[in-house]
Amino acid sequence: MSEVEEIKSRLDIVDLISEHVNLTQSGRNYKANCPFHSERTPSFIVDPSRQLWRCFGSCATGGDVFSFLMKVEGIEFPEALKILGERTGIEISRNSSAVLKDDYYQINEIAKNFYKSNLTSDEGQIALDYLESRGIDLKKIDSFDLGYSLIDRDSLKNHLSFHHVDFEKAIESGLLTKFDNGNVKDFFVARLMFPISDRNGRVVGFGARSLDDSMPKYINTPSSPVFDKKNILYALHLAKDSIRKKNEVVVVEGYMDVIAAHEYSFKNVVASMGTALTVEQVRQIKNLASSYVLALDQDTAGQEATLRSLQSSWGIFESLNTSKNDFFSDYSKILKVLSIPNGKDPDEFIRSESQDWGRIVADALPLMDYLIPSLISRFDVNVPGNSQKILELMFPILNNMDEIDRGKYLIELANHFKSSFENVQAMLKVISQSNQRNDYENQKSTPKSSRMIYLLALIFSSQPLKEKSKELNFEIFDLESSYLLKEYFKFDNLIDFENSLNEDYSKFYNEIIETQLLETTQDSFNESYEFCVKTLNKERYKIAAATFSESHGLDFPTEDQINQINEINAKIRDS
Ligand code: UTP
Ligand code: MN
Repeated sequence: MSEVEEIKSRLDIVDLISEHVNLTQSGRNYKANCPFHSERTPSFIVDPSRQLWRCFGSCATGGDVFSFLMKVEGIEFPEALKILGERTGIEISRNSSAVLKDDYYQINEIAKNFYKSNLTSDEGQIALDYLESRGIDLKKIDSFDLGYSLIDRDSLKNHLSFHHVDFEKAIESGLLTKFDNGNVKDFFVARLMFPISDRNGRVVGFGARSLDDSMPKYINTPSSPVFDKKNILYALHLAKDSIRKKNEVVVVEGYMDVIAAHEYSFKNVVASMGTALTVEQVRQIKNLASSYVLALDQDTAGQEATLRSLQSSWGIFESLNTSKNDFFSDYSKILKVLSIPNGKDPDEFIRSESQDWGRIVADALPLMDYLIPSLISRFDVNVPGNSQKILELMFPILNNMDEIDRGKYLIELANHFKSSFENVQAMLKVISQSNQRNDYENQKSTPKSSRMIYLLALIFSSQPLKEKSKELNFEIFDLESSYLLKEYFKFDNLIDFENSLNEDYSKFYNEIIETQLLETTQDSFNESYEFCVKTLNKERYKIAAATFSESHGLDFPTEDQINQINEINAKIRDS
């Protein structure tokens, strides 16, 4: 039996899923509200006889214990294999990458313990004093395992050597540095150490703060086999239970902010590590709660980076007509933005007014109330066209609201635009109609999609596009279309080309050139061309992904297959 089957034979899917989802028995099966999308009537079914789960609702996915754990924990297959292997006491063969990663976790763990013990040594007094000056009560935040890196740049190195740690791996982990002359030294020196863990509590890296405000204030572990800053939310492993219980997560920016919050028992707080939230970070918390509060520092509020992050991580400006993404279709209600009074950061606020933290979190602005002023300050409404631009950006959100809410925001926008409610409403209608036209166009894609015909029509109507299309990846076309194009490239003269076609291809060619094109300028030709190519590529990858998982069965893909699927998915995203 393979490891995977061995593990499955020792696990009951109902036990595993019950730890994450409130299952109720229904005949032979169990059911629940699907944990992967929001719904009111249960469409998530667990079938104990076949040891499978499936969502019959809008996510329409399913699988076995592995796929469930991967999805619910946001982890990859090797990790799921390792977790379930441990749980069932089945040894996973050494060559799986999950086991290889173990070495890095271990090295980081050894370093964490070393730094932590330094804190109570004589040399660590300076760090203890610093913590005290910041008002931190170490006893209350012991689980953060704060530490201190010594001045002696051989100290960690010697300690690791005592533990027989492979230096190459310690270098890869970012704990030791190798100089050009071959010398190996500690990377972190004389800094307050914040171990950074993944959501399962394994130490993957460190943040290191200077004690004297010398620059840079923080040095973080460079990326390593286990540390990728954009994937990590600081303290998620300590916060996730509380996030689930409170059904709310508060995302702050700094290590110090999280520590203050947890010290004062606000344990549903995590940090984005100082940058705008990334898609990967959002994925980590997406299924944990139904209220998301972003605590922004005053200086970043309203800035472009925040808007960009709201878009790239939460997709807030994306059309939701497809309703595929329905967990976030009401993000304007579940996302809130918290600006802390008097320009304080969360750390300062909590330490001086902890009794008011709950209130300001509860009073956080719904996304819209934050967004409107931000967009108004981002796009000067005195510049002609900018009001429309703002409305277009906000259209997907406005479109998903009920009449009353929408009316309220339209009035607000009208005031900002120095226009009337009626005008703004009329403009929104125009935007809506033009979006619907686009959606209709998008939906028309059949095997030989209208998009493909349209692209061919563009190519046949524009000499520059003819040249450009010679470089296309022809996989976006079907056989007939690529044959036709290749023939077309052989001729300089259109008449000769047309005469060369047999009856079938003539018919097909006529169908193409009868397509009514909307473009008039070369610029618009180019633009439409790029758009069609992009969309066709996306469709191609989607088909590839679907075919792949179909032909391999979804039950337990191997690591290689997971990687292949991930690659395909990455291509879909990138295109
Ligand atoms: P802050 O400057 O707000 O840090 O940066 P902080 O955690 O509140 O620290 P104090 O209160 O000044 O001591 C927010 C986060 O940005 C990242 C860190 O993750 C930090 O917690 N950051 C900041 C860096 O990575 N490097 C830096 O030099 C500064
Ligand atoms: Mn701070």
